[in-house]
Formats: sequence, structure tokens, C-alpha cells
Amino acid sequence: MYDTFLARSFSKHEQKKLGYGAFAACFLIALSFCTVFKPYLGPLPVLNLRLSIMGAGHKMLAVEETTIPSHKQETVRENVTARAELMVDSGKFEEILTMKPVESARMICNTTDCREKAAENAMVKSEPGCNSTNCRGHAAETVEKAKGVKPLCNITGPRTNFCDMKGDIRIQPSSSSVFVVSSEMDVSQENQDSWKIKPYARKEDRQAMSSVREWSVKSVSGRENIPQCTRNHSVPAVLFSTGGYSGNHFHDFTDIVVPLYLTSRPFDGEVQFLITNMRPWWINKFRQILENLSRYEILDIDSESGEVHCFPSVAMGLKRHKELSIDPSRSAHTMKDFREFLRKSYSLKRRSAIRIRQGENKTKPRLLIVSRKRTRSFTNIDRIARMARGLGFDAVVAEPSMNVQKVAELVNSCDVVMGVHGAGLTNILFLPDNAVLVQIVPLGNVEWISRAYFGEPSKSMDISYLEYKLSLKESTLIEQFPLDHVVFKDPYAFHKGNWLAFKSVYLDKQNVKLDVKRFKPTLQKALELLLEHTNRSVR
Ligand SMILES: *[C@@H]1O[C@H](CO)[C@@H](O)[C@H](O)[C@H]1NC(C)=O
Ligand SMILES: *[C@@H]1O[C@H](CO)[C@@H](O)[C@H](O)[C@H]1NC(C)=O
Ligand SMILES: *[C@@H]1O[C@H](CO)[C@@H](O)[C@H](O)[C@H]1NC(C)=O
Ligand SMILES: *[C@@H]1O[C@H](CO)[C@@H](O)[C@H](O)[C@H]1NC(C)=O
Ligand SMILES: *[C@@H]1O[C@H](CO)[C@@H](O)[C@H](O)[C@H]1NC(C)=O
Ligand SMILES: *[C@@H]1O[C@H](CO)[C@@H](O)[C@H](O)[C@H]1NC(C)=O
Ligand SMILES: *[C@@H]1O[C@H](CO)[C@@H](O)[C@H](O)[C@H]1NC(C)=O
Ligand SMILES: *[C@@H]1O[C@H](CO)[C@@H](O)[C@H](O)[C@H]1NC(C)=O
Repeated sequence: MYDTFLARSFSKHEQKKLGYGAFAACFLIALSFCTVFKPYLGPLPVLNLRLSIMGAGHKMLAVEETTIPSHKQETVRENVTARAELMVDSGKFEEILTMKPVESARMICNTTDCREKAAENAMVKSEPGCNSTNCRGHAAETVEKAKGVKPLCNITGPRTNFCDMKGDIRIQPSSSSVFVVSSEMDVSQENQDSWKIKPYARKEDRQAMSSVREWSVKSVSGRENIPQCTRNHSVPAVLFSTGGYSGNHFHDFTDIVVPLYLTSRPFDGEVQFLITNMRPWWINKFRQILENLSRYEILDIDSESGEVHCFPSVAMGLKRHKELSIDPSRSAHTMKDFREFLRKSYSLKRRSAIRIRQGENKTKPRLLIVSRKRTRSFTNIDRIARMARGLGFDAVVAEPSMNVQKVAELVNSCDVVMGVHGAGLTNILFLPDNAVLVQIVPLGNVEWISRAYFGEPSKSMDISYLEYKLSLKESTLIEQFPLDHVVFKDPYAFHKGNWLAFKSVYLDKQNVKLDVKRFKPTLQKALELLLEHTNRSVR
């Protein structure tokens, strides 16, 4: 089963990276209409961005500058939030001014500065004779009001839509609705918002989101016809999806587990998980983690169509920061805490990598060589292991399985992990601090994604990172294409940004015959890093 995931995964994985880079650029241009290149699972979506390579060796993604087509603008008109974003994106500040101050400020602005401006502008506009200098008093008041308004759903984040609802929250699965009931008699128009939310933290990725159930969030007043509660709960709930790319080990963590940790850890177990698109094997795979985050039985919310579940507070969707990491400036819990949490959940013993005492201590540093069976496999794994043993490593060869407990224990027992770029490397999460990751980067300009997915995240895990780029001779692609083929000369010209073309060759047809002589210094460097760590901790 895992094989399939790995195989599947990689592609997604890879393309994700492509998509991710594109997204960053795209986000600035057209937040609401960023279509990410994600063709792996199905037919190609209409692309509004194009992959291209800039500069030798460095792959970058350039986004074709998109002006929003008028028919799209029409659809968006129904959605006032999206409309506001669109207006900001296209610089239509005039239109913003016609909105109510509170409405415009809270809908549009992601910074205090911007909120103040919007509120002030709206104020100026609404009072005849006022301008930004002579009606400051009124403006200031409005600004205060605007600042106090926090929308139920935050859809300004690049990767996730997230709603934080408190009070009288009623979930009606039969209509995929969440009602936020306000008892105030003076519920003004401005409070009557509604959102459509897919609770999976990869919102820019159409392919992933296509398998995620959409829920509506409606703010309603107590006077309206609101469904009656059939089940009352006293703890807060977190509603999220296990659809999307679940099953790919990397995505399981980066899209669900880490975001779920960020969202639910603050409740310290006193939280009810509501899962949409529930996949029982996924629950089983991550049982230890889920049980440690919540003391309550998981509710498969999709199968509760006859009920209306009521909660004092509901979080819809998951918070998300960077790929496989946590931004310490945005959360009370850091990546260090997360790794500590994993160690607790799986009862892992080692918190720090081996201290090498040359000579006296006979304990050898342990190297895990991550093997892959179907794609990007090592063809000479025995020779690699022999060379590593010659250097003084206790070398283990293993392919990660679906049994996370076993994998976690194995990885935690190691000091160095080496492997070809792929989802299996996600397991470095279980390594002790000060361990080393050696990522082998295959041909095809995959450096950027390799770094974004594992290189960068490893830093926040206190893991040293080494990269080994394959030379032409070490790729089995040379058995399939002549050396002067465009596949080698110019990968981009070969795949032209077509994911399937890229994947079918560079990811699926490429195996790795490591030149152990050329690779040896990299492993020696890994040993040196362990020595440095030893020296540091001795001091
Ligand atoms: C705020 O929104 C503007 C316009 O959408 C965008 O350019 C800017 O990067 C955003 N800032 C933050 C901090 O998200
Ligand atoms: C604002 O209005 C006052 C009084 O009507 C006027 O004197 C002043 O020039 C205006 N300022 C601007 C920036 O338009
Ligand atoms: C909305 O989410 C973004 C990204 O997660 C965050 O930077 C911003 O502060 C949030 N805005 C509000 C009003 O909470
Ligand atoms: C905005 O409205 C459109 C059309 O109804 C919908 O597809 C989209 O999901 C909405 N956007 C958000 C963020 O709710
Ligand atoms: C749930 O709580 C509400 C308000 O306290 C109460 O009116 C209702 O009868 C309760 N429903 C159930 C099924 O216990
Ligand atoms: C987390 O898991 C560990 C080990 O299984 C257990 O001792 C601990 O009580 C769990 N914590 C919670 C909150 O369930
Ligand atoms: C030798 O290394 C092992 C593994 O890190 C460690 O547990 C042990 O304390 C070390 N022994 C000495 C004498 O330093
Ligand atoms: C670690 O310390 C030893 C003994 O002081 C020294 O010989 C060695 O060069 C140091 N190694 C590193 C990698 O710093």
C-alpha cells in the first residue's frame, strides 16, 4: 500500500513544489484567482500560469500576469469577500469606498494600516464636506470600530481558510452548514456574513481541494429559522478534512498533522474532532497522534446527517504556516514542541543524536538508507551500505511502511538519514536533534523543490542538512536517452512545464546508481557534523 503512496506521492509532491513557488508569486498578483499547476491526478486544469526557467541551473516559476477575466469578475460579485479582495488586487479602491466602513475594513484588509485607511476613506466618503484632514475625529472612531470587528472566517491566508466561531454554533451535516447564531436583537446587516469553506490546508491547489467537502458558514440572528440542536456538546470542536492528498506521507504531515497540531494543541486534549471526508485507514495510521491531541472519540461528521451538533466554539479548517514547519512568530508552539510531542506520542527515546567519542566509545553512529522500490531506487544499495560501514556507520537499509510507530522507532534510533528526494524523507520528523539529513537530488532541476520540502524544514527541526546532486553518470536515465538529448541538456525545454511529462521521465524513470567514491565525502561530512555536535555539547 505504501509503495503506491510513495509513487503517487512523489509526483504530487513534486508538482506541489512547483505549484508552491508559483503560488508565492501568483498570490501577489491575483489572490483569488491563482490557479496552481497540479495536473497529476486528473486532466490538466486550465493553466493561468506557466512554468519557466530563469537563469542557468535555478528553476524559478514565473507567473503569467493575469488580469482577471470579466466573466470571472461576475461570478465573484456574489461573494462580497472575494470581491473585496479582487478590488484590492486590481487597485479599485474607488469601489471599496462605496462599501460601509466596517464592511470594507474587515473584508479587505490584512494589516492594521490598511484597515485604518479603508475605514477612514469610507468615513470621508460618507459624510458630505468631510475629507481626510477635517473629519479625523469621526474617522478615528470608525477606525476603532473597524479594528474591533474580526470576521468569523479568515480567508486572507495563502494556504488555508480558517474560521474561528464562538457562542452558539450549530452544525447541520445534512446541509453541510455551520450556523453561528447571534442572539443580539440589533443584528445589523454587517453581521450577516456567509462563507464557503473547504477545511483542508492547501487551498491554492485545485486538485487537492477537488476531493474536499465544502461547508458553508452562516452568521444568523436568533430570530431566523435555525435548526434545533439534537446533540449538545460542552467542549470546543475542530472540523477538518482527511481528503485532499492524504495517503501521501509528506502531505499527511504538511497538510494535516502539523496544521492539526497547530490548531488543536492549545486545547490540551479538551477538544472534539469532527472529520469530513473521513478515511478510516488514515485515522488508524495516525491513531497515536489523534488520541494525544483529543480525549474525545472522533466524530465522522459526514455520517451524522440526521443530527444537529451544537458546540460552544468551533474551529473550521486548520491553521497552517510553512511547508512541514511552524513559524515561531505565529504560534505559541514551535517545531521543537511538535517534535517533542511526536516523541511522546510514539514513546521515542532519543532526543539528541549520538556523541561520538573517538576511540573510547565503541557505539557507532547509525545511518538509515531510505530505499524505494518502484521509482528513484538505488541500484547499488549494498555497495553504498558497505562504504558507509567502512566509514564507521552502523548502516541500516529500510523502506518506510504504513506502520508509523515502527518507522518512528527506527528513524529515532538513527543519527543520519540518507535518501533520494521523495515522501519517505518526511520521517526525518522522528530523528533526534542534531541528526543529519542527506538528500540525494536526482536529475531534472529538482533542487528547488528538494530544498523547499525537506532542506528548509530540516533547519527548524534542528537537523543538519546536506545535499548531494546526482551527476549524469549516476542517473539511469543515461541508459534510456543519448547523452546529447534535451532531457539532459535542458529539462525545461523537454517538459515545457507539463507536469506529466516531467514526472514520467525525471520522477518515474530515473533510478540512482550512486558513485560511492564521489558520494563518500558527503557521508564523511555527516560524520563531521556529528563530531561538531559532540564538541558543542561537551563544552
Ligand atoms: C495584504 O494584502 C495586500 C493586497 O492584497 C498584499 O499585497 C500584502 O502582501 C498583504 N500583506 C500581508 C501581510 O499579508
Ligand atoms: C478639507 O476640507 C477643508 C474644509 O472644507 C478644506 O479647507 C481643505 O482644503 C480640504 N483638504 C483636502 C486635503 O482636501
Ligand atoms: C488571517 O490569516 C493570515 C494568515 O494566516 C494572518 O496573517 C492574519 O493575521 C489573519 N487575520 C486576522 C484578522 O486574523
Ligand atoms: C466566493 O464565492 C464563490 C462563488 O459563490 C465560491 O466558489 C468561493 O468558494 C467563495 N470564496 C470563498 C473564499 O468562500
Ligand atoms: C441543547 O441545549 C439547548 C440549550 O440549552 C436546549 O434547549 C436543548 O433542549 C438541548 N438539546 C438537547 C438534545 O439536549
Ligand atoms: C500521549 O501519549 C502518551 C504515550 O502514549 C501518553 O502517556 C499520554 O498520556 C498521552 N497524552 C494525552 C493527552 O493523551
Ligand atoms: C557512548 O554513546 C552512547 C550513544 O550515544 C551513549 O549512550 C553513551 O553514554 C556513550 N558512552 C560514553 C562513555 O560516552
Ligand atoms: C572536536 O574536538 C576534537 C578534540 O578537541 C578536535 O580534534 C576535532 O577537530 C573537533 N572536531 C570538530 C568537527 O570540530
